[in-house]
Amino acid sequence: MTNLSTKYLGFDLKSPIIVGSSGLTNSVFAVKEHADNGAGAVVLKSLFEEQIRMESEQNIQISGSNNLYPEAQDYISNYTLEHNLDKYLQLIEDCKQEVDIPVIASINCVTSDGWPQFASKIEKAGADGLELNVFVLPTDFSRGTDENENVYFKVVKEVMKYTSLPLSLKISYFFTNLAQMIQKLSFTGIKGLTLFNRFFSPDIDLKHNKIVAANLLSEPGELTTSLRWIGVMYDRVRCDLAASTGIHNGEAVVKQILAGADVIHLVSALYKNGNNHLKIITNELKDWMTQNKYKSIEEFRGKMSQTVINDPAAYERVQFMKYYSGIE
Ligand SMILES: Cc1cc2nc3c(=O)[nH]c(=O)nc-3n(C[C@H](O)[C@H](O)[C@H](O)COP(=O)(O)O)c2cc1C
Repeated sequence: MTNLSTKYLGFDLKSPIIVGSSGLTNSVFAVKEHADNGAGAVVLKSLFEEQIRMESEQNIQISGSNNLYPEAQDYISNYTLEHNLDKYLQLIEDCKQEVDIPVIASINCVTSDGWPQFASKIEKAGADGLELNVFVLPTDFSRGTDENENVYFKVVKEVMKYTSLPLSLKISYFFTNLAQMIQKLSFTGIKGLTLFNRFFSPDIDLKHNKIVAANLLSEPGELTTSLRWIGVMYDRVRCDLAASTGIHNGEAVVKQILAGADVIHLVSALYKNGNNHLKIITNELKDWMTQNKYKSIEEFRGKMSQTVINDPAAYERVQFMKYYSGIE
C-alpha cells in the first residue's frame, strides 16, 4: 500500500498534490470536486486589492459622484471593498463546511493597510492558512534592489502582527540573489514558500501590432525552473517548499518531490485536461512509488536534491557546452 500522506504548513495532508490558486478554486463547488478527486489541500483564488480598487473607481464613475461628493465616493469605495471581502470570506466559510482538507486563502495587496486588514478577516472567516501572493516587478528605475526586496519582508512582518495563521509566501524568481533571498525569507517565520508564481505576461501580436497576453497556461517544459530551485533550496530553508509551474503529470510530481518539494501545485494541467486529471496524476504518482518500492513520500523526498547527490554542480550548469548538452 502506498501512503501519500505528507506534512505542509503544519497540516497533515493525505496527498502532496494540491490545487493552486486560480479560477479553479473560486467556488465551493470546484473546491469540493478537488477534495473528492483527492487533492491534499486547495489554495483559493487570490483576493486582489487592486481589482477591488479598480471596481470602486468604476462604480464612482458610473454613479457620477466623481469630483462632486467626497462622502459619496468614500461610501462607494467602502461598499465595494466590503462587498468583495464579504464574498471572499463567505467562500472560505462555505468551503470549510464542505471539505475536510485545508483551505488556504490567498491575497495580493497594493497598500500597506490592505495586507493586514485582509489577513485578519480571513483568519476570522476560518481559513486554515494564508498564501501571500507578493510580486514587485523590478521595472522601476528609481528603486534600488534593497527597496524592492524589502517589500517582501515588510509584508510578512506586517501580516504576522495581525494573524497567527500559518503563512506561505508565493514568489517569482526575479531577484538579484535568488538563493540568498529565498533563504532569508524562510527565516522570517513563514511556514512555506511557493516557487514560483507564473505571471500574466505580454506578447506581441504581429498582425495587429499590439501587445496581447502570452500563453496563459504553462507547458510541461516549464517545469525545470522550479525544479532547479527546489533542488537547490531543499534542506537550506527553514520552511516547507511548494513547487509550482509546469507540473502536468505524475512524473513531474515525482521529480519535484525527489528534488525536495513538500507539496506541488497543479493549475494549468487541470485547466487543460479537466479537474478529473488530478486523479490520473495521483495514480501515476502511486504507480511510480509501487514500481520503485517506495511506501511513503518521506522515503524519497529530497533524494535528488543538490545537498544529497554526488554531483551537486549538475544543478548549477547553465551554459550549453558540448560536454554537458551533447550538441554543439
Ligand atoms: C487562469 C489563472 C489564474 C491564476 N490566478 C492566480 C491567483 O489568483 N493567485 C495566484 O497566486 N496565482 C494565480 N495563478 C498562478 C497559478 O497559481 C500558478 O502559480 C501558475 O499557473 C503556474 O502553475 P501551472 O504551471 O500549474 O499553471 C493563476 C494562473 C492561471 C493560469
